[in-house]
Amino acid sequence: MEVMRILHMNKGNGETSYAKNSTAQSNIISQGRRVLDETLKKLMTSSSEISSFGIADLGCSSGPNSLLSISNIVDTIQNLCPDLHRPVPELRVSLNDLPSNDFNYIFASLPDFYDRLKKKENSNKAALGFQRGGGPCFVSAVPGSFYGRLFPRRSLHFVHSSSSLHWLSQVPCGEMNNEDGVVITTNLDNRGKIYISKTSPESAQKAYALQFQTDFSAFLRSRSEELVPGGRMVLSFLGRSSPDPTTEEACFQWEILAQALMSMANEGIIEEENIDAFNAPYYAASSEELKIAIEKEGSFSIDRLDISPVDWEGESISEKSYDIVRSKSESLASGRRVAKTIRAVVEPMLEPTFGQNVMDELFERYAKIVGEYLYVSSPRYALIIVSLVRMS
Ligand SMILES: C[S@@+](CC[C@H](N)C(=O)[O-])C[C@H]1O[C@@H](n2cnc3c(N)ncnc32)[C@H](O)[C@@H]1O
Repeated sequence: MEVMRILHMNKGNGETSYAKNSTAQSNIISQGRRVLDETLKKLMTSSSEISSFGIADLGCSSGPNSLLSISNIVDTIQNLCPDLHRPVPELRVSLNDLPSNDFNYIFASLPDFYDRLKKKENSNKAALGFQRGGGPCFVSAVPGSFYGRLFPRRSLHFVHSSSSLHWLSQVPCGEMNNEDGVVITTNLDNRGKIYISKTSPESAQKAYALQFQTDFSAFLRSRSEELVPGGRMVLSFLGRSSPDPTTEEACFQWEILAQALMSMANEGIIEEENIDAFNAPYYAASSEELKIAIEKEGSFSIDRLDISPVDWEGESISEKSYDIVRSKSESLASGRRVAKTIRAVVEPMLEPTFGQNVMDELFERYAKIVGEYLYVSSPRYALIIVSLVRMS
């Protein structure tokens, strides 16, 4: 399965599009706002005046969220500069995603984005009597994989990425010796499952962990070339708080998807061997795995690393909300929303294996199983937010 080709969110702005079904990821962007602001403040105060400030959002996708992170970053920089008695720098903003991303959707929303910037600048001027904000902002798109080089050397000051780095560059392969003792790579032996699960062989867990180390190191190596010394990154993605990759928070959304697929295989709607052959190019890393990759690569220091629980709609979970009891109908409604969010993300990667004609049925079953599960349990993801500094 070629990840570059099949990994993109549902395009356009139709009923099943990412644009219409990305509230969970927008909630996650909001939760990263405090660390984002704090990091930008540290970056601006620790560096001398910057006239042209390079910003990249990696894995921007298409839809309202693509410009949401950027709006937050631009706002924060424009608000910080007057407090630091500095002119607002010109901002070079690069939006990155894989080449199959719907960049046209973003381009179509750029005029509104520039209008909003202009209006804000004018209303600030009217209210304060002097210019606050403003400064030219140039947005461009950079298609390509963030697991390789995307930008010229030392051209960036700040890198942001939200809900993207849990996607791997490829489905990991297993390794075994053939009759001549030569190591050959094979498909993972992960029958009836589509991601790491309690019943997956240890070799599958190892292969996933290794793929994450390879990918994340390549990500850091590329960014270390592109960022100026002292440049910073804020990365948020789904991970896990336990060393065990088979806990509910690390894999249960895939477990339920495998259940929905198996129920269809049992009724002869799809082939069971296709389920055996499919594995998701996804990995929920632990903070330990993250630290190992960062230390080994050696160009970045960790300024801050938080892991917090979020529910399956991306809402943060406080101690109090663990006890909230939902009615059956609320749970089923939430199940349908979760299924729409997951469909907008994974449908393009499932279609080549299972066929486009079974997707409605699959996600109806998925919504029902998720809804019933939400009635009896309060599953959560572990959201990792890490702030890194490029060492000199
Ligand atoms: C769930 S979306 C998140 C989009 C947006 N950042 C948000 O918060 O709504 C994940 C995005 O990461 C992109 N992505 C995954 N792997 C990538 C890679 N290797 N290089 C660039 N983009 C990638 C996907 O194509 C997808 O658009």
